[in-house]
Amino acid sequence: MSAEPRAAAPLSDALARTAREVAAYIDAAIAASGAPGERLAGAMRHATLAGGKRLRPFLVVESAALFGVSRQAALPAAAALECIHCYSLVHDDLPAMDDDDLRRGRPTVHRAYDEATAILAGDGLLTLAFEILAREDAGPDAGVRIALVASLARAAGVAGMIGGQMLDLAAEGRFGDGAPLDLPAEAIIELQAMKTGALLRQACEAGALLGRADADGRAALDRYARAVGRAFQIADDLLDVEGEAGTVGKAVGKDAAAGKATLVGRLGIEGARAELGRLVGEAEAALSGFGTAATLLAEAAHFVAERRN
Ligand code: IPE
Ligand code: IPE
Ligand code: MG
Ligand code: MG
Ligand code: MG
Repeated sequence: MSAEPRAAAPLSDALARTAREVAAYIDAAIAASGAPGERLAGAMRHATLAGGKRLRPFLVVESAALFGVSRQAALPAAAALECIHCYSLVHDDLPAMDDDDLRRGRPTVHRAYDEATAILAGDGLLTLAFEILAREDAGPDAGVRIALVASLARAAGVAGMIGGQMLDLAAEGRFGDGAPLDLPAEAIIELQAMKTGALLRQACEAGALLGRADADGRAALDRYARAVGRAFQIADDLLDVEGEAGTVGKAVGKDAAAGKATLVGRLGIEGARAELGRLVGEAEAALSGFGTAATLLAEAAHFVAERRN
């Protein structure tokens, strides 16, 4: 495992910096995408350029930095992953899925535009992500770029995010008699590891691939990312129960109403909080071999658990 000591900077500054840089990258990529007319590109911008914590890009940049990769060199992989994340949100909000009107404090893409445009804007971001990864600046050589493409495709695909979304809807009873399935906690953990965890893990995997990390470094980051991924969705589900739409930026109180399978539903609020604390400890422990170079990543695990939006 190789790690370079770096000065600790406040997490919020680091998140804001990555957010700015990734937004500029995506903005330029959409401008150069060749989308005909203004409507489709406008919907892609609406989906990607207003708000969002940019946690996944941050994890790419910071994971890569552990192995001496510059921010600039990590930015394409970070932007590609954020395009996938934003597409997943556009489709997640569609009437056929979670049917939401509010995202990041603004109308969802299908509300601001229309359903067909939202579907196509999501498809456009999905494909743009892979175009970005195939470009020369996305990795030091073609081998690394192919590895990044394969990693993102796997994480976003049916064995990852898409598969998890399918299981999530199935758990609501969508494909049966409408009655929610009574999933055991282990099945919920697996479903969430796919729907949410896969993209968060890919962020750290991308950093490790860019930095040509050794097996120990990769494994340690993966332990970190698994714990963060689990914590992330528990926090999201807690916000659905306890948050306010004005702060969270999206509708709340929907999961129980829809019969969604969540650990908050299984463990209760206190049980879910205890699990969050345990997972943050697990994430921090996974970083121990990186020393102070991983301070920001450790802070990010706390941020994920304590976030208010
Ligand atoms: C929301 O993700 C969807 C889930 C995976 C739970 P984020 O909370 O990262 O959304 P943004 O990008 O900050 O809006
Ligand atoms: C969404 O999970 C996960 C993905 C978009 C892949 P949720 O449906 O809980 O996310 P929110 O609450 O709408 O952001
Ligand atoms: Mg959903
Ligand atoms: Mg949703
Ligand atoms: Mg949610």
